[in-house]
Formats: sequence, structure tokens, C-alpha cells
Amino acid sequence: MSERSPRSIRSIPETPGGTRGPDPLMNYTLRPEDMVTERRLGEGSAGTVSKVKHVPTGFVMARKHVQCDPNPEFQRSLERELKTLDRCHSPWIVTFYGAYMDGDELAICMEYCEGGSMEAIYKRVAEKGMKISEQVLGKISEAVLNGLVYLHKMHHVIHRDLKPSNIVVTMEGQVKLCDFGVSGDLVNSLAETFVGTSYYMAPERIQGGKYPVQSDVWSLGLTMIEIAQMKNPFPNNLSVFELLHYIVNQAMPSLPEEETWSDDFRDFLQQCFIKDFMKRPTPEQMLRHPFIVASSQRTAEEVDMKAWIRGVWDHDATLQTAKAV
Ligand SMILES: Nc1ncnc2c1ncn2[C@@H]1O[C@H](COP(=O)(O)OP(=O)(O)O)[C@@H](O)[C@H]1O
Ligand SMILES: [Mg+2]
Repeated sequence: MSERSPRSIRSIPETPGGTRGPDPLMNYTLRPEDMVTERRLGEGSAGTVSKVKHVPTGFVMARKHVQCDPNPEFQRSLERELKTLDRCHSPWIVTFYGAYMDGDELAICMEYCEGGSMEAIYKRVAEKGMKISEQVLGKISEAVLNGLVYLHKMHHVIHRDLKPSNIVVTMEGQVKLCDFGVSGDLVNSLAETFVGTSYYMAPERIQGGKYPVQSDVWSLGLTMIEIAQMKNPFPNNLSVFELLHYIVNQAMPSLPEEETWSDDFRDFLQQCFIKDFMKRPTPEQMLRHPFIVASSQRTAEEVDMKAWIRGVWDHDATLQTAKAV
């Protein structure tokens, strides 16, 4: 184990948290022995996410366990990342409650979004033979862009891993981002354990490793076309090499002509898929796109996200059925 003890990470929740508002965990240091696992929510390339209860307070959270590099340098950068996470307070970002080491695994505790991820949601909607309306897609895009602008403006952070499973929804219908890489160290270290390629990677990422803020906009385009069509938009059976070649060189898939999507939504996706990142809009510019402007003018009564998410999970049966994918 490193000279730097895991306690340094465990101490994060003790950071004076006065600006966070009511926080049932404010006076607690999170400890593995205080957690009971209620349910496994899903498994990603880097770890496992569970719904857990903090026994002393009865507070329910989502806890992500990731294998952690004991290298002291990595732990120091991790600590910096966790401190930034701790400073993020936005309705579009999943709240971070604290982190601790459990053996050689890092446990990251965050707000539990019981409506599940957009991946779980669209799969559920597809199973029911239904569709997600363009107005709901507008509200999702708007929330994601607001989250990206918040991260970038307030914390100089680029998300780096935007995809349907990293967009989660509460049962109040709030749409939030999770799993963004603060300095990139955490994402990079996780990526090392990730065999395979992200479908959501922008061409500039494949070509050189540069990560401008516009790369998130590319990933947003792919995410939204996938959610709209309720399936991955790329042709089936591409090898990894063919996929990378496709992303860099081929025109990206668009919504089928015969389907009744608005020109604004189609154009929104086109803007996301501009290959040259210098010409692709930033998240802030995308907030001014007509598709988003029109969405932001629709009231909560006109597009009732709470009713929508409750409908997806058949209302009260929700908590049992909101299985993450
Ligand atoms: N805060 C959260 N609230 C509810 N579900 C979550 C939360 N964070 C993650 N999940 C669920 O856990 C699953 C696994 O997450 P993760 O390990 O990040 O892998 P990935 O995002 O690559 O699927 C996600 O698909 C998501 O459904
Ligand atoms: Mg994730």
C-alpha cells in the first residue's frame, strides 16, 4: 500500500460543507461498515454501482466501487478530483456525498437517481413498444448542455465520458450528469482497464488524444440519436478498426427521412457531428440552437418530465423495476 493512507480520501466528507445546503451526511465520515447494500444497480467497464443505505442516517445513495491504483501520485490526483466533485453543486449534476477506501477499492458515494440511466430508460421504452417524444428529447438535451456548461464554466471540467448510461433521471423528472472526469486522471486510469472502444468518442480523440470542450458535443449527438432511435446508430458488425475509421471518415448516421422528426432536431444532431472540432459548436453555443431554445420555452406543464418518468416505470412499481442496464 502507498505511504499515503486511504484515510486521506476518507477525510473528504469532512470538508466543511456549509454551501451544500441540507445534507444529512454533513456531520458524518463515510465508512464501509456503515453501509448496507440494498441492490446492485449495474456494472460498467470500471466497476459496480449499488444502491446502498447509510445506516446511521437511513440515507440512501448510489455507491460506485472502482479498483484503485495504490500509486501515491495517482492517489494525490484522485484526491484533487474528489475535492472538485465535492465543489459541484448544480441541479444538472449528480450530487457527490463522499468517498472512502474499502480495501483497495475506492467507493464513491453519490445521489441515487431512482429513475435510472437513459440507457435503462430507452431500453424499457423500446420493450414497451413505445417511443420517447421529441419534446422529452429536447428537455434531456437541454439538461445535459446545462450540465456541461456548468462543469466547464464553473470548474473548467470537460465531461469526457458522455453516453446514455452517464445521464441519470430522478423520479421528479430531473435529468443529471454523472461520471465525468475532473482532471482526466480518473477517467484515464479507468480507461486502461477498459478493453474496447467507446462509440461516443469524437474524431479528434481517435486521431490525437486532444480533448477540447467540443468533444462532449459530439458525444451528446451520438447519445441523443441513440436515445431517439432506442438503439446504437452505427451499422452492425463493425470491427473496432472499422468503427474508428467510420467515425473519422464517414458521414455520421442521421435520423431516417421517413420518421417525423423536426428540422431543428435533425440540424441539432448535424451540428454535433461536425468532424472538425474547431467548427463544431461548444456546449454554450449549442444552448442557443433553435432546438434547445424552443425546448427551454416549454413549461413543466407542457412537457411534464415527472409524469413521463413515472410512466416509463409504471409509476409506483418503479422502485422495483428501475433496473439499471
Ligand atoms: N447515481 C446513480 N443513480 C442511479 N443509477 C446509477 C447511478 N450511477 C450509476 N447508475 C447505474 O449504474 C450503472 C453502471 O454504472 P457505471 O459503472 O458507471 O457503468 P456505465 O456508465 O459504463 O454503464 C449505470 O448504467 C447506471 O444505470
Ligand atoms: Mg457510468
